[in-house]
Amino acid sequence: MLPNHNPTETAAWQKLETLFLTMQATHMRELFDEDPERFRKLHLKFEDILVDYSKNILNDEVLKELFNLAHEVELKDAIDAMFRGEAINRTEDRSVLHVALRNRSGNPMLSDGEDVMPKVNQVLAQMKKFSDSLLGGAWKGYTGKPVSAIVNIGIGGSDLGPYMVTEALRPYWTTITPHFVSNVDGTHIAEVLKRVDPETTIFIIASKTFTTQETMTNAASAKDWFLEKTGGKGDVAKHFVAVSTNEQAVTAFGIAPENMFVFWDWVGGRYSLWSSIGLSIAATIGYGNFEKLLSGAHAIDNHFRNEPFEKNIPVVLALIGIWYNNFFGAASEAILPYDQYMHRFAAYFQQGNMESNGKQVDRDGQPVLYQTGPVIWGEPGTNGQHAFYQLIHQGTKLIPCDFIAPAVSHNPVGDHHAKLLSNYFAQTEALMKGKTLDEVKAELKHAGMDTEGIAFHAPFRVFEGNRPSNSILFHKLKPETLGSLIAIYEHKIFVQGVIWNIFSFDQWGVELGKVLAKKILPELTSAEEITSHDASTNGLINYFKRLKFL
Ligand code: F6P
Repeated sequence: MLPNHNPTETAAWQKLETLFLTMQATHMRELFDEDPERFRKLHLKFEDILVDYSKNILNDEVLKELFNLAHEVELKDAIDAMFRGEAINRTEDRSVLHVALRNRSGNPMLSDGEDVMPKVNQVLAQMKKFSDSLLGGAWKGYTGKPVSAIVNIGIGGSDLGPYMVTEALRPYWTTITPHFVSNVDGTHIAEVLKRVDPETTIFIIASKTFTTQETMTNAASAKDWFLEKTGGKGDVAKHFVAVSTNEQAVTAFGIAPENMFVFWDWVGGRYSLWSSIGLSIAATIGYGNFEKLLSGAHAIDNHFRNEPFEKNIPVVLALIGIWYNNFFGAASEAILPYDQYMHRFAAYFQQGNMESNGKQVDRDGQPVLYQTGPVIWGEPGTNGQHAFYQLIHQGTKLIPCDFIAPAVSHNPVGDHHAKLLSNYFAQTEALMKGKTLDEVKAELKHAGMDTEGIAFHAPFRVFEGNRPSNSILFHKLKPETLGSLIAIYEHKIFVQGVIWNIFSFDQWGVELGKVLAKKILPELTSAEEITSHDASTNGLINYFKRLKFL
């Protein structure tokens, strides 16, 4: 069971509130000036991944109290409870064991007293066989041609992870091109189907529940398209496979049992890329590379479980996040990968983080009187620099940022990577240091501006600085590195959920909209005016009808 503590009632929280009063008036420039050893003291390394957290508005005292906070809420017990397979997802009465999916230790892992590793390994073997036969050309389509494309049909956790990872690991693609269809907007599937050939394409229907409206609608349309294109001659068994926890629904859809890849209710959708939901990943980059992804995550699991908090990367990042979220009042966090291949990384953790920790009641069902999960957003650098960094540098909101970059590019074209990284380094330096009014004035004077001009122009060019960031720098974006990075962010979310005393592994907040959409769907079929909703919803639906049934 997870420990249950109101974090604001801990001694550490009270001390942090006091420390905040001095820290909010402290500039990081002073902190760096005071201690030339600041970088050495405030960075962590895990294999080739370096995490520099020295550019944050904190000192030893703050860190000490943040670690005390973690101890006071019994974080260690919570971590152990997850790894022991206790039913910590209490509102769904389930354990939370995505760590078992990537357990490479050979040791058992228990859920409800049962060792889950035999079935995990069995499905992994099935995934290996499938991806080997696809990539080796042994699996043939209904006309005897080898497969050249897969279409993953899923949404949320059954789409975002596989899509993000296959994009991030594009250099590892060989003979199979993956496509992803998630949106129920018919445009999504229509556009993908224009690009694939029914003779050489496999559809992976990925849905934990196998009831999700979007996925079931897209799956049915894909099947119709396949049967139509093949003149009814296409063998569905050779072109459709399913990934789900719901064996009954998969069978009812017409997918043969041997083409079904299962996983289990103790795998949260947004933590499922390590399960058979990762089938499209394995089929694209090869099973060997998929295993490396798992190994990278497993290595972080060991680090997370065993390292003291002071040396524990997910714990340190989580505590820094709490410091800004709950004391500085920062409402969002930006994830800024300086790697084009990671262009879906922030979007992936939008679900990971916001669906997990976007909660308003604590574990006793009482309203929380403090902030919980932040808004997560971001785009790759340098694109973001030319779009929204203005607000990060000079806006009125504090936005803690994570800058992520590989030292070596998969595409060493001319001096592109040096230019990319010069921006990566420059941005965190600029955010931290800023530029003072005196510095701006001296610059303008040097450029030959007159006194009146300087007086007018200078204020606009001042950078306050003192904008916090973490820098994550590693050798190259390899499968194992990506696995480690994802696991770091996953465990960060877990730690924060423990501290905020919320349940991070349910998502009741997505249900109401689904229920209302089901009620509205039949109301859209006729031109008849409706009056069953509030005035705004009635007005919108009736205007839609006037446009549609013109
Ligand atoms: O509606 C939210 C959600 O339940 C997510 O948590 C999940 O990842 C997604 O829908 C897809 O669910 P499924 O895999 O069951 O189709």
